[in-house]
Amino acid sequence: MNRFASTTLVTLLGLAFSAATFAAKPEEAIKYRQGVMAAQGWNMNAMGAMVKGEKPYDKAEFAKRAVNLAALNKMALEGFTIEGSDKGETKAKSEIWTSMDKFKGGVDKLNAESAKLAQAAQGDDLNAIKAQFGEVGKVCKGCHDNFRNK
Ligand code: HEC
Repeated sequence: MNRFASTTLVTLLGLAFSAATFAAKPEEAIKYRQGVMAAQGWNMNAMGAMVKGEKPYDKAEFAKRAVNLAALNKMALEGFTIEGSDKGETKAKSEIWTSMDKFKGGVDKLNAESAKLAQAAQGDDLNAIKAQFGEVGKVCKGCHDNFRNK
């Protein structure tokens, strides 16, 4: 890419990002975070089927999903930072905004555990992979118990 093209790209990305950040409506933020969460669930379910033996273990597929999950986790928090998104078609509890540090702690924990899963998935120790999958699942559940309405 030449210098002009890369400068233009950086400018365009900057515009797209600031537009998304400043113009985001609460209902868009809710849809965004629910979409990211749904994608996390999608990947967890697919890995879970392999962990439980409902589907044959496929190392490349599992590793790809673990990496995707780690990336999705990093994207979720943004959807909870838009003002007014505590109200609407959402199962998010108001405690998220009164205990934001604790909530962020859950996001950080998931980042750490999902990165470890992606790491473990590079290897061939299935017991370690299964155990780490369980650790990730615990973090999902812990946060849902504290911060998501049934
Ligand atoms: C830091 C807290 C937190 C963590 C960690 C977390 N979630 Fe969530 N999750 C939420 C909250 C809050 C909602 C409700 C969002 C809303 O309705 O606005 C939610 C919603 C969901 C939903 C429903 C999405 C929809 O369609 O409305 C799924 C599926 C989900 N999470 C899966 C997962 C999985 C799988 C993990 C672990 C890999 C995970 N979550 C980790 C807080 C968390």
